[in-house]
Amino acid sequence: MKASFSTAIGTAAVFTTLVAIGVIVAPQRGRADSDDSESSRIRIGFAIAPVPLNLHGKNRSLVGLGSYIVNAQGDCNGCHSAGPASEFVFGGIPYFGQRPTKINPATYLGGGSDFGTLDPGGLSAHIITRNLTPDKTGRPEGGATFDEFVDIIRHGTDRDHWHPTCTGALGPHCVPPPFDGSLLQIMPWPIYANMNDHDLRAIYEYLSAIPCLEGDPGNPAGADTHGTRCK
Ligand code: HEC
Repeated sequence: MKASFSTAIGTAAVFTTLVAIGVIVAPQRGRADSDDSESSRIRIGFAIAPVPLNLHGKNRSLVGLGSYIVNAQGDCNGCHSAGPASEFVFGGIPYFGQRPTKINPATYLGGGSDFGTLDPGGLSAHIITRNLTPDKTGRPEGGATFDEFVDIIRHGTDRDHWHPTCTGALGPHCVPPPFDGSLLQIMPWPIYANMNDHDLRAIYEYLSAIPCLEGDPGNPAGADTHGTRCK
């Protein structure tokens, strides 16, 4: 009895102290504070999203957190834009010293960056980033379910089988062994695989809120989805 009473007093004292030093009220403040709570990340996420977001039917907090992970930490667009030349809009190209940075919405997460081949001779498949924007189903990455998305990030599964492992001579649609063509190459899934389910859910929710871009880069069949992916 006595012990739990003094514990209660202790807890109240700690709480009062935290309020007094601003730890508990800090989440209301702006971007520059040292607050690392989720609400701060959600707020920053909305502030830095470079495209209009469709929040209809979405979990708002997850979209904001997903934007923070994609745009402040994961740099998905650093690879999933169409390439360095069009990643930013002129006037906001950070590598020219132009401020503030302006990401190009016309190529945002639409894929197309070409990382070249995995064999030094340049004979095998080019590794090209894919279009992560939602399709007309509203699901991200061309209609992936959340389970499929988790499988991709946790295991690197290439669900499209666009570049199998070469069996004989190297060719433009296969990757040279010992690279495993059933796995996504260059994509940092071995690192992203460490994220928890909540963060993956947030990325998925954010990717379903960004605008659709046409195109199917990386498809060896050269399938032209122009005009059919988004509507
Ligand atoms: C270092 C460059 C790089 C970064 C950063 C990157 N990716 Fe990728 N990603 C790739 C490449 C390259 C591919 C295609 C790989 C292949 O064809 O083998 C890919 C493929 C994917 C695929 C599979 C798409 C499909 O249609 O099969 C998903 C999903 C994906 N990336 C999501 C993400 C997300 C989400 C982020 C940020 C959290 C991200 N990527 C960051 C390079 C990158």
